[in-house]
Amino acid sequence: MSNVVVVGAQWGDEGKGRIVDWLAEQADLVVRYNGGHNAGHTLVVNGQTYKLALLPSGIVRGKPGLIGNGVALDPEALLAEIDRMAALGIRVTPDVLQIAETATLVLPVHRAIDAAQERLRAQPIGTTLRGIGPAYEDKVGRRGLRVCDLAEPQLLAQKLDGLLAHHNAWFRGLGLEPFPRDAMLNDLLAMAPRILPFVGRVWERLDRAHASGQRTVFEGSQAVMLDVDWGSYPYVTSSTTLAAGVASGAGIAPSRIGQVLGVSKVYATRVGEGPFTSEVGGATGDLLRQRGAEYGVNTGRPRRCGWLDTVQLRQSCKVAGIDLLALTKLDVLDGFESVYLCTGYELDGQRIDYMPSASAEQQRLRPVLKRFDGWEGTTRGIRSYGELPSQAATLIEAIQQEVGVEVSMITTGPERDDAIVLRSPFAHTGGAAV
Ligand code: IMP
Repeated sequence: MSNVVVVGAQWGDEGKGRIVDWLAEQADLVVRYNGGHNAGHTLVVNGQTYKLALLPSGIVRGKPGLIGNGVALDPEALLAEIDRMAALGIRVTPDVLQIAETATLVLPVHRAIDAAQERLRAQPIGTTLRGIGPAYEDKVGRRGLRVCDLAEPQLLAQKLDGLLAHHNAWFRGLGLEPFPRDAMLNDLLAMAPRILPFVGRVWERLDRAHASGQRTVFEGSQAVMLDVDWGSYPYVTSSTTLAAGVASGAGIAPSRIGQVLGVSKVYATRVGEGPFTSEVGGATGDLLRQRGAEYGVNTGRPRRCGWLDTVQLRQSCKVAGIDLLALTKLDVLDGFESVYLCTGYELDGQRIDYMPSASAEQQRLRPVLKRFDGWEGTTRGIRSYGELPSQAATLIEAIQQEVGVEVSMITTGPERDDAIVLRSPFAHTGGAAV
């Protein structure tokens, strides 16, 4: 199978970046197909931490990366990230990065709209305030600016006028100042010469990669529970986070998508608002947050923590077509006397084994928890399944059984090699399952 899609199977922040980094070693290309700099992918390489938001995670090891048309691209954020990488010794040049001509631009006005919309909402979503949602709204509203527009200054100005006419009517209606045009246009024109050398036909590059049998990793951002259709709407992001988004967000045939690797922590976190049935407060929640360093990569927000919800995970695997699971951060559970899985829900006194779609029902769910013995000692850095404490192995096997998807990898620390690899998603056969 020459393509692997990496998808977050919970609410984001599952550790996709390091899984992509690991897969990138076995691949020729890494491709982003959704989201924007609302994403935060952390990699630790030889003790150095790299925080990526827009750049495909293979870039740290010099693997060529593509940014597909499905990405919402903030040119200012991209250039700042390229500069940050340069300061760490990673040169991002057009030889290693190509950006789709038709990717949607995220503009300063989108950030202003994002903030205003959040202020106006009776129940805020807790967005990253990066302007991602409003940029996608403009895309489907057919007034958005695209990367290729940077090459046409006159057209760019005209399109910007159209976009601002729409939004400034809204700002004025709310009694807010209209958003100024000139600084935004001048900044775009000033950034264009740095961005345009990266711009190209991503679909064609992918077609050539396929024809020559190259291996491609598609790097999903956010996660199934944040998908605009399948997540806990309206507490979601504004893109298709599932593997289904690869075909339209990068430009390949659905039949070429290949293996889908879902990534899940062995516990659960969520950042932002919205239902989270297995959330744990108090000292246990604080301990998970502290041990797992659960703070947003980009926003620094403390993440809400809880136990792994196998009902959510099973359902997410089904709708997202997840073939294999990578379980991350096992070492965070070291030293807990008891650990729990949420294996069912109670809704209005009835036991159910699926996540209902309606937000109001999701909010009323009560978790049915199953207790497991914790373990003494540490799993940190363990690389062989046989070395796991028996209680940790029991937990992994229970997760696999509840979810019904093969576990192909377990991470036991932040470095790339702190992992137990049972089966590479690139492998057709071989390798033992748990
Ligand atoms: P937006 O994508 O900024 O519009 O935010 C919508 C929701 O998705 C909020 O709950 C955010 O916290 C969440 N979100 C967006 N990107 C990420 C991510 O990369 N990790 C975790 N949560 C995210």
